[in-house]
Amino acid sequence: MRLLITGGCGFIGSTFIKHIIRKYNDYSIINLDLVTYAGNLENLDQIKNHPKYTFVKGDIADENLVKEITRNVDAVINFAAESHVDRSIEGPSVFIRTNVLGTQVLLESAKENKVQRFIQISTDEVYGSLGPEGYFRENSPLLPNSPYSASKAGADLIVRSYFETYKFPSVITRCSNNYGSNQFPEKFIPLLITNAFEDKEVPVYGDGLNVRDWIHVKDHCKAIDAVLHKGKVGETYNIGGNCEKRNIDIAKLILKKMGKDESLIRFVKDRPGHDRRYAIDASRIRKELGWSPEYNFDQGISETIKWYDENRSWWLKIKSGEYMKYYERMYGNR
Ligand code: NAD
Ligand code: TYD
Repeated sequence: MRLLITGGCGFIGSTFIKHIIRKYNDYSIINLDLVTYAGNLENLDQIKNHPKYTFVKGDIADENLVKEITRNVDAVINFAAESHVDRSIEGPSVFIRTNVLGTQVLLESAKENKVQRFIQISTDEVYGSLGPEGYFRENSPLLPNSPYSASKAGADLIVRSYFETYKFPSVITRCSNNYGSNQFPEKFIPLLITNAFEDKEVPVYGDGLNVRDWIHVKDHCKAIDAVLHKGKVGETYNIGGNCEKRNIDIAKLILKKMGKDESLIRFVKDRPGHDRRYAIDASRIRKELGWSPEYNFDQGISETIKWYDENRSWWLKIKSGEYMKYYERMYGNR
């Protein structure tokens, strides 16, 4: 297979590229990535010289480039996105441009070039927020609450319309919160770990009782592999780790594992529109594609802490640069 993977320099995309290269040695991969603040070529150091791997720096919303690049590929897997909720609250425009418009540009070129399969990597956040009971199912209503989740929902609806209108062979996946190595330290778990290593306060929003359903990034990548090879076109697959945790409990667990004191926790002003609970019903992908998550959260978190410990230069470089200005804006007066 010839795959076009977009956003392959990010957290999940880079993990997926490494997974595919290791598992299918006859597949070729083009990685199209704009290398925004979140993209990092170091994430692909291990495979950058692999003969089946090609990197192209560029924008998924660039029609001419995307038309050219989709010409000889069998499948497109669209990871490229602006992905951080707090940034979407500060500045929604780029989220609409990349996540909505970029997805449509990519779809249109893939359709023109008769690409056989298009996988849209979406998120459970499109479903909005749950009360204490219940789960997101594939037919749950789309009720996004942040500019980020609204832009992902918009993209999902365009993908759906390309299937319904043009019979374009697309599939949507909606996964819960990922954790693991190479995650940019603005997201909750790597922010906690890296701040704790530096003995800095760890910010917990609101009362800390918001719940997320956590999944290891490698389990997510195996699910996308299953969808790529066995998923039914026109279908949506929820992906989740069946692992609901309250933010405060994660903060305490990580500090304990790192031998740090809970006094590092600082409750800060809540995020506006903060979704209370996410929980995924992943029974469709389990039953129809035979996928299930393998990581145990406790073991996965220990491994993740170890990775951040052994790869300090990776995150110290990020934390000493441009990102710190964002950090100051975000947490300075909170
Ligand atoms: P990330 O922010 O780590 O990576 C995004 C990548 O996209 C970066 O490499 C960036 O350079 C690239 N990119 C951004 N704009 C681009 C553009 N216009 N053209 C080309 N490349 C561009 O994100 P992630 O956490 O790896 O998430 C990947 C995908 O998975 C996203 O679509 C996200 O919505 C989805 N998702 C993420 C999670 C999660 O917990 N992280 C959960 C479910 C779904
Ligand atoms: P995040 O990693 O931003 O993912 P998402 O908002 O897409 O679920 O946040 C995960 C949870 O952690 C969410 O409930 C917000 C919370 N959070 C904090 O409490 N403190 C922080 O500094 C961050 C970044 C997030």
